[in-house]
Parts: sequence; C-alpha cells; structure tokens
Amino acid sequence: MDRKKYCAANWKMNKTPHDSVEYILEFQKKALDNHKVQIVICPPAVSLTAMISEIHRNTIELGGQNMHFENNGAFTGEISADMLVSSGAKWVILGHSERRHVFGESDEMINQKIKQALQSNLKPIFCVGEKIEDRESGNTGQVLAAQLTLGLKDISENDFQNIVIAYEPVWAIGTGLTATTTQVDDAHSVIRELLSKQGYESESTSILYGGSVKSDNAGELNSINGVDGFLIGGAALNVEEYYKIYQSF
Ligand code: PGA
Repeated sequence: MDRKKYCAANWKMNKTPHDSVEYILEFQKKALDNHKVQIVICPPAVSLTAMISEIHRNTIELGGQNMHFENNGAFTGEISADMLVSSGAKWVILGHSERRHVFGESDEMINQKIKQALQSNLKPIFCVGEKIEDRESGNTGQVLAAQLTLGLKDISENDFQNIVIAYEPVWAIGTGLTATTTQVDDAHSVIRELLSKQGYESESTSILYGGSVKSDNAGELNSINGVDGFLIGGAALNVEEYYKIYQSF
C-alpha cells in the first residue's frame, strides 16, 4: 500500500514570527522536490500569516498546534479552527501529550476538537501514545485503544480519511529516548489493527512516529514498514537538522 508520507514539525512554543520567517526563507533554499513527502510545519499560531505569505513551494503546508472545540465565543486566549484556516493552516495537531498531560485535555475534548477541525476543513494530526508506567505495566495496547476509540468517536470513514495519526510514546518526547524499531513497529501495527476494528480503512491511513526523532535515527525509523513519516519537535527547530531528516525519506 502506497501511503502518503509526512515530515511534520511541531515547533511548540518556540520562534517569534520574525524567526519563523527567517527559518522558512532559509528552508526553501533547499531542494524540496520529493512530492511523495508532504512537509507540514506547525509554528506558534502567531507566526502563521507571516509564514504563509513567504511560502512558494507546494510541498510545504502549515498547521496549528492546538485549537478550541468551539468556533467562536467567550473563550479568552483560545483560537478556533476557522481562525487557523484563515491564517494559512491546513493542519492542526490534536491530542498532543503536552496538551493531554500539562493542560489536562481529555479524550472527549480531543474528540470534539477533531470534529470541529474536520468541519472547518482542517486536517487533524491526531496524537496517541502511552506513558512509561503504561508501557512498564503492559498496558500500551489498552491505552492506545482507549485514546483511539474515544478520540475518534462518531467520526465517519469519509472524515477519517482526512486524519493522520501520530504515535508518540510520552516517555520518548523531548527526552532523547527513542522507542526501538521493534517497539515502533509493534505499536504502529497495534494502531492499524485497532483502527480497522473501529471500521476504518487503516491500510491507507498514514501513521507517523514522534518522540526524539533526529537526523541520526531518522533513517532507521523510516525503514520500518508501518511508519509513514514523523512528527518532529526539538530537531525541527534547526533548518539543517530538519532538512537532514527530510532527506532520510
Ligand atoms: P521531540 O517532540 O521530537 O522533541 O521529542 C516530538 C513532539 O512532541 O511532537
């Protein structure tokens, strides 16, 4: 199955609009002609408009890192799906472990956000992943099952086709610890199985890996059959490092 590949960057709370523009200008000097690989950069939302007007390569798209599940109203400090779209985003990261564990987002909330994003034609990068205690107690499968069932509740097969899944074991995010190729391979197979049990055409679903991806482990991770690309945090903040990861495809 020829699934679409993604080299996605999650900048988290890094780079001002000025720094973001400098980055994108520098990055676009590179050869970015692999049309099988979609580059998705998710900067802080305040950088989106400045960046989109500088992007002239159709292999690069932008995304938000979060959004509210309502589309407008009295939600001080929040950003809606429509606002992201009108600022140039085509994607939004939802269910990231920092949103789940630092900001207390529940699976139900994530489900509402996914639905709202889809309604606004914003494609979700839906993150799932277990904590170290889940893995050590042998509960990885159950955790992934719960996150996928609740997060995708009432989402039709048609809508599901616009979703990309990112497997991000919480213990590997920003820690320098990468899951082994066997752990990644197993988790991606489990996710694909769970999705097909939920009635989705999972063979055509792109599943990304995220968690301390760097240029020196990207090649090995990319050789795993079930891995359709990456969601990269820290290593994507540097143009050269991100480009090296892109070249591993
Ligand atoms: P990391 O972050 O690459 O810095 O581990 C990945 C992520 O949080 O998506």
